Amino acid sequence: MTADIAKRAEKLRAEIEQHNYQYYELDQPLIPDAEYDRLFRELQALEAQHPELRRPDSPTLRVGGRALDAFASVRHAVPMLSIKTETDIGDEGAISFDARVRRELKLPEDAPPVEYGCELKFDGLAINLRYAHGVLVRAATRGDGETGEDVTQNVRTIHLIPLRLNDCDAEVLEVRGEVYMSRRDFERYNEKQREHGLPTLVNPRNGAAGSIRQLDPALAAKRPLSFFAYGLGEVRGWPLPATHSAVLDALRQMGVPVNEERAVVQGAAGLVEFHRRIAEQRDSLAFDIDGVVYKVNSLALQERLGFVTREPRWAVAHKFPAEEQLTVVRDIEIQVGRTGKLTPVAKLEPVFVGGTTVSNATLHNEDETRRKDVRIGDTVIVRRAGDVIPEVVGVVPDRRPPDAGEPFDLYRRLEGKCPVCGSAIVREEGEADWRCTGGLFCPAQRMQALLHFASRRAMDIEGLGDKLVEQLVEKQIVLTPADLYFVSSPVLANLARMGEKSANNLLQAIEHSKQTTLPRFIYALGIRNVGEATAKDLARHFGSLDKLMAADAARLQQVPDVGPVVAQSIVAFFGESHNREVIEELRDKHGVHWDEHDGDAVAVLPLNGKTFVLTGTLPNMSRDEARAKLEALGAKVAGSVSKKTDCVVAGAEAGSKLDKARELNVPVWDEQQLVDLLRTHEQNQG
Ligand code: IVH
Repeated sequence: MTADIAKRAEKLRAEIEQHNYQYYELDQPLIPDAEYDRLFRELQALEAQHPELRRPDSPTLRVGGRALDAFASVRHAVPMLSIKTETDIGDEGAISFDARVRRELKLPEDAPPVEYGCELKFDGLAINLRYAHGVLVRAATRGDGETGEDVTQNVRTIHLIPLRLNDCDAEVLEVRGEVYMSRRDFERYNEKQREHGLPTLVNPRNGAAGSIRQLDPALAAKRPLSFFAYGLGEVRGWPLPATHSAVLDALRQMGVPVNEERAVVQGAAGLVEFHRRIAEQRDSLAFDIDGVVYKVNSLALQERLGFVTREPRWAVAHKFPAEEQLTVVRDIEIQVGRTGKLTPVAKLEPVFVGGTTVSNATLHNEDETRRKDVRIGDTVIVRRAGDVIPEVVGVVPDRRPPDAGEPFDLYRRLEGKCPVCGSAIVREEGEADWRCTGGLFCPAQRMQALLHFASRRAMDIEGLGDKLVEQLVEKQIVLTPADLYFVSSPVLANLARMGEKSANNLLQAIEHSKQTTLPRFIYALGIRNVGEATAKDLARHFGSLDKLMAADAARLQQVPDVGPVVAQSIVAFFGESHNREVIEELRDKHGVHWDEHDGDAVAVLPLNGKTFVLTGTLPNMSRDEARAKLEALGAKVAGSVSKKTDCVVAGAEAGSKLDKARELNVPVWDEQQLVDLLRTHEQNQG
């Protein structure tokens, strides 16, 4: 191996880690994903060809290696302790900690305030990262504090954790901190699982713990995790700074993620202020916290204070209200969203959770409700964290009363009808959600339906925007798109932000929209899965709205690009009488109109409706060939002759079919006549 190859590998490693930092830490990638992949594969190939080039800090290790049978035990060089939790969630918690510290330090009453480092208490999983000469050599869980598990492979898949520290050659530097899953990553992960009908994570903490303790690192790599450092373990050959806050500053310099919502404060007043400030920000943080942590900032004072049992006297956790609580499900209601999606919602015995009183929590969809087996009367765990709507994360099975409700069945519960408008409900294949089919009529979908109907590529009613539609719906002036053609100038002029002039302009735009095209009108109906392109295909194929409305699923699937799902959506939409009534009103009462034609199927295929029978051996063409050509022109090729047969094409040794044709006076052709016919039409089709 040449020195060049080693150099190239070294360069690739540095470059890839730089891109990792840009992508994962700064969220500002410098190169496209494909280019990143190319660099990554080049390094992988080099390391495969030259195993001596492999390094413990190579980014190729971040994709996860072989699955394990079990984790090896790791004895911590310095035990991983826990901290005392202040149970009083008010100011008193901070005040009593400061008093305790002053007492232990035997400070006189007039001594200056003690300096504290204040941090967030991250809600994840404690991890010890061992760096030897700046390279990550082992990562371990806390375990019982003395002995943890070796989770190095999984931790390497966390891109925020540096595999090599910047400018640090300490013989040993153990960094301690919390592996966590951000709220966004948690929501996204669950969203995807729900879409595929797979189990979801209960909360971000379980998500983090579950993936770190996953034996297959490739699976762990799929769960997006993050990390914040909050302290040190064993340290050899690295001069300790004087304060805890300076330790965190130094770690940050080395490239270790350190959360910046931290502060150095003086005395109890400083602690109280930090606690209050963070409590206010809690919901808007990117991750869950269950409180804040106060630490005496001076490492010398920490030493003096020492430990009681397994807890340091110099630190305390000051909690916030819990984000998960138990309560009882009184009822399960089904809500209809703006797009017709039906969501089961648990009506709860009101409970104080995550800082507010919650009495409704989403159950997401039918499958999830069934998987968790939530029933009326059950005691459930409710989670409310951040700005996300509260959700039921699980049931406490031991607390199910004997008179608890039946297993959840959305269709039965609603007797197949939308709880808002009474239209039929459907659940498409491969979809997790039930939906209301009354798109044009359902009050829950009004806003959405009207905005779509009026949009530029649909009926193109200029000036009918969000604010206006909101007012028309709220004041119940417009209930369905058909009502738009009823509104009068004085009614419009009276609405907020509308003068007489804009009212008249809008009326003109509404009037103007009555002259439209069939594709626009079909698109404007807002049928699920029918976008602009499909609307055009449908219009071309059927040529008239009535033909489209009468088509069954099989007929619809003859349209290019219309599969069973789209066909089903169309059938369900027109099958709903509420929708048909709105359409009739638009067309017959208000004179919305467009040009119609006979449709592609009839206009373009010249032999549509004709029935042919083939018999005997044709001199130049096989019977299959003749059949295919006839069918391509729209003809039907039948197996026997009847009065309905338009033409029999007979070759050599034609038998009983030829006799029957003569008997019924059906025209009989030879191959040449057929060829002439095909040629004429094939030419016309161009
Ligand atoms: S310091 C000796 N700081 O809370 C002190 N811990 O019982 C060691 N935690 O599971 C802990 N955020 O993983 C410290 N800013 C923070 C923390 C924090 C979360 C976790 C830690 C441990 C528990 C402490």
